[in-house]
Amino acid sequence: MSDRCAVVGNPVGHSRSPAIHAQFARQTGEDIVYERIAAPLDGFVAAVESFRASGGRGLNVTVPFKVEAFAYCRHRSKRAAAAGAVNTLAFREDGVHGDNTDGVGLVRDVEQRLGFRLAGARVLMLGAGGAARGVLAPLLDAGVARLVVANRTAARALELAALAGDARASGCGFEVLASSASAQAGEGFDLVVNATSAGLDDAAPEVDDAVYAGAPLAYDMVYGARPTAFMRQAAARGCARVSDGLGMLVEQAAESFFVWRGVRPQTGPVYRLLREEIGAQA
Ligand code: ATR
Repeated sequence: MSDRCAVVGNPVGHSRSPAIHAQFARQTGEDIVYERIAAPLDGFVAAVESFRASGGRGLNVTVPFKVEAFAYCRHRSKRAAAAGAVNTLAFREDGVHGDNTDGVGLVRDVEQRLGFRLAGARVLMLGAGGAARGVLAPLLDAGVARLVVANRTAARALELAALAGDARASGCGFEVLASSASAQAGEGFDLVVNATSAGLDDAAPEVDDAVYAGAPLAYDMVYGARPTAFMRQAAARGCARVSDGLGMLVEQAAESFFVWRGVRPQTGPVYRLLREEIGAQA
């Protein structure tokens, strides 16, 4: 019988994970079927346990359950602990394992598909919510020289600062700014990452225009059929190259597949197919 995996979220109807994992399974010959589970907002644990009891082997967890998934699992990977959030659950004999593949997804997409060298780079990350938290440790592990996290409001930035003790200990020039207004403008960055949720309203984050000037790359963690508001803003204000987060989506999925199956699928063909599909739907 095939192994069953699924993505659980609310809403989950838009998720491209089933299509991505179906491609991975076809490509690698792994016997896995991948479903979609819409859990009620107060019913995450019940949905997970029912899936597990019916023979499910692994889950991807998406909005808004990543923090609940972190609390739920018995074993947590280092990168899940650093994020305080879990996007991958694996049901094993010794209990539920929680991992977070979002950050490695970003790092692989930036380094491998875009050919951008993170080691030694000066990085500005906009936003300090769940999305930012998920990618913090992997960015530092990639050897960035400087990581400035700028957030619209101070409280969130300070929360992130509290979580970032380990990151600081890694010795890179890491700093959390409590304002995105002007403090970091003119400093000079190699990469600007949008981890805010402003794009959900098709808006660009509120940030000083000067942060984009001369930056070789701006990367939006969300994706779309057309360039996002952040990408348009970054390009108009002097960024040489812009990218959305479709590649990150495919890479985090590939890492989850690896967690479950121990096999690493090729991401390039799946990325290209998805890009075509998304373009055709526009
Ligand atoms: P997610 O899980 O997507 O990260 P979240 O945890 O709610 O969602 O965090 C959203 C982040 O986007 C926050 O850092 C938020 O900034 P505030 O803490 O100031 O609210 C940021 N954000 C949302 N809209 C924004 C905007 N228009 N400009 C700048 N930052 C924005």
